[in-house]
Amino acid sequence: MPNFSPSEIDALGARAEAMVNALAAISAEPDRLVRLFLTPEHRRAADRVGEWMREAGLTVSEDALGTARGRLEGATPKRLLIGSHIDTVIDAGKYDGPFGVIAGILAAEHFARAGERLPFGIDVLAFGDEEGSRFPATLSSSSACAGIFRKESLALADRNGVTLADAITAYGKSTDDIPAAAYARGEAAAYVEVHIEQGPVLEVRNQPLGVVTSIIGQTYLNVEFLGEAGHAGTVPMALRRDALAGAAEAMLLGETLARATDGEVVATVGRIAVAPGATNVIPANVVVIFDIRSGSESARARLVDELRSGIRAIAERRHLGLTITSTREVATTPCHPAVQDQLADAIRALGGELAGAPPRLGSGAGHDGQAMAKLCPIGMLFVRCRGGISHNPMEYANPRDLGLAVAALIGFVARFDPNRLAG
Ligand code: GLV
Ligand code: MN
Ligand code: MN
Repeated sequence: MPNFSPSEIDALGARAEAMVNALAAISAEPDRLVRLFLTPEHRRAADRVGEWMREAGLTVSEDALGTARGRLEGATPKRLLIGSHIDTVIDAGKYDGPFGVIAGILAAEHFARAGERLPFGIDVLAFGDEEGSRFPATLSSSSACAGIFRKESLALADRNGVTLADAITAYGKSTDDIPAAAYARGEAAAYVEVHIEQGPVLEVRNQPLGVVTSIIGQTYLNVEFLGEAGHAGTVPMALRRDALAGAAEAMLLGETLARATDGEVVATVGRIAVAPGATNVIPANVVVIFDIRSGSESARARLVDELRSGIRAIAERRHLGLTITSTREVATTPCHPAVQDQLADAIRALGGELAGAPPRLGSGAGHDGQAMAKLCPIGMLFVRCRGGISHNPMEYANPRDLGLAVAALIGFVARFDPNRLAG
């Protein structure tokens, strides 16, 4: 079993941090990190990742959704998949996604350099559509790998009206090749992902690493209110059909309902579009997108129902037209108990401060594992991040923790036994 000295852990951490910084320099904007799916920045990041994979001794390919795949052959056709994403939110931090891809490359490199065939192959996957920041869907790249890509997604358009199908073509790929991205059933032994926690639990418990028990379920509701444009100075208040005032009430209703669940459900509106969008015109058309999450399927469903009926009542009272569409429905996804245990063993084996049972915690963020779970058992390893801050340029994880995470992943691969996953 691999055994790492403190200086080897530091060296792994330093390499990981330098690679994180190299990807963070690839952005659509000079002053903030923005790297959206199937854009020139995605192309540049995937090229960089492909170079690292080759340098690590992996064979590189790319599928129709732009997922870069670095392969290390094993003694059998079974593969352990290790991945994360290289797309970002708008004004992102630099660790969310890229660190998981980098950890996978550094772990695969360890085994490629050792030159000994593992009883299974390793595929390192760099997905391009985890954040859903460009198209109103998400996980399309991991869904293609899992064989659950929905063809209807191809018609979804970004803010500029470019459809996913057109973006795939512009990226130099063919939508006809999407089915070929899927792994054959039985080929994938498991999918594992290393990710910063994006929350405060590990920091509060003074632990660098933890094992994820499940990934939270999520609903996106696209709510469109239709009112009537009018002069801001001449139309009396009682005669208005103000779409934005209706949307504001709906947003407060979402907040009130979620607060009443005592932490069981969270609801957010982070995106709103107002038309015509002029100071002196009564808003005629407003679209708000609710992001609603919970570890409990029933609590999420209950809140979504209450919100839908509350919004219908608001629209009726204000004489507004209304359409509500669900654009994302992702179920709460458990991590496989045996993968959790194998990750915990690998963490414990690092010894020192990690010698005890590692914390087990749920993920409040969405991850590619939610699509990959339709293909094979999944597991996730979380790394402490400063203040639990994420989706924010202040995101930070210290290099020693990054090194420990890579060492734990290497230890996991060395111990990985697909036969222990039954049941
Ligand atoms: C992705 O990070 C999400 O949880 O929205
Ligand atoms: Mn992420
Ligand atoms: Mn994210």
